[in-house]
Amino acid sequence: MKKAIILLLALSMALCLSGCAGKQEAGTEGSSVVVGFSQLGAESSWRIANTASMETAAKEAGFGLMMENANQKQEKQIDAIRSFIAYQVDVIVFSPIVETGWENVMTEAKKAGIPVILMDRMIETEDESLYTAYVGADFYAEGRRAGEYLIRKADALGAEKLRVAEICGTADSTPMRDRQSGFMDVVRGDARIEVIASVDGDFLRSKGEECMRELLAEFGRGGIDVIYSHNDSMTLGVLDVLEEEGIAPAKDILLITVDGEKEAVDALKAGKINCVVQCTPNLGGSVMELVRDLKAGKEVPKIYHPDEGAFTDFDDLTDPSVEGF
Ligand code: AHR
Repeated sequence: MKKAIILLLALSMALCLSGCAGKQEAGTEGSSVVVGFSQLGAESSWRIANTASMETAAKEAGFGLMMENANQKQEKQIDAIRSFIAYQVDVIVFSPIVETGWENVMTEAKKAGIPVILMDRMIETEDESLYTAYVGADFYAEGRRAGEYLIRKADALGAEKLRVAEICGTADSTPMRDRQSGFMDVVRGDARIEVIASVDGDFLRSKGEECMRELLAEFGRGGIDVIYSHNDSMTLGVLDVLEEEGIAPAKDILLITVDGEKEAVDALKAGKINCVVQCTPNLGGSVMELVRDLKAGKEVPKIYHPDEGAFTDFDDLTDPSVEGF
C-alpha cells in the first residue's frame, strides 16, 4: 500500500515536472521496488548509453525507476537525492559528477535507512558507511592501460621523444583524477615521454575541439606527438580539428582515447585512432542485481568493477570481438 502511494506520488511528480529542466520519469506502476536514480547529465555518448542501460535493466527487473537528469549540476543531483529520500524509495543510485560535497545529503539518506549505490563515479569521504556499494570502472587501471600502450608504441616506433598533451575530463571527477594518475604512474619513469600540457575538456566533444585548437596555437603543428584524451567524445572533437588542419591523425599525432563507443572504434579500424581503452557504460544489469540482493537481505560486494581491456593498432582489428557500444 505504502509503495502504491509512493508510486502515485512519483507519477504525479513526474507529470508536474515534465517540461521543466532535467528529466523526471516515473517507474513501473505496481512495482514493489522503486529505485531513485540521479544521472549526472548527457555530456557524451557514453552517458546516453549508460542511462539507457539503467532504464532497460530496471524494466527487465520489474523495478520502478524514478530518474532525474542533473544536466551537469551537482546542486540538481543533491535536490534529486533529497526528493528520493522524501518519497522513501527503496534504493538510491547516483553517479556523482564530482567527488566532493556529498556528505550531508548522503548522511540524510543513511538516517532515512535508504541504501545508496554509487554508479560509475566515486565520492571522496572518510565514512565509507555512507554508501552501500560502488558499481563502475576501475579508472586508474584504464589510465595505466593508456600509459602501457604508449610505452609499447614508443618501443615499436623507436621514438626518442614523445610530447604528450592530455585532454582531461570534468575537473575533480573520479575518471578525470584516476585516468590521469594511472597514466602518469606508468609513463613517469620513461624518459622518452613528456607530458607538456593537461587541459580541461569536460568530457565534451565541443570542448575537445576547442582544446585541440588551443593546443595547436600554443605548441604549433609539429609541437605535439601524442594526444591522450580522457574520453571518446573529446577525441572525436580532436579528430575533426586534425582533419580540418590536414594533420594525419594516428600518424602525425598519436591518439589515445577512453570509452569504446562505436564511432571511436570505427575510427581505430580506419587508422585514425591508435588506442581505445574500454570503459563500459552497461552497468544497469549489475546495479539491478545489487538492488535485488539488497531487497532480499543479502550481503553485497562493496566494490564491483566490470572486466575491461583495450583495443589498439597492435591488434587484429578484423576480429569480431573488436566492436564499440
Ligand atoms: O564517468 C565515465 C565517463 O563519463 C566516460 O568516460 C565519459 O565519456 C563520461 O562522460
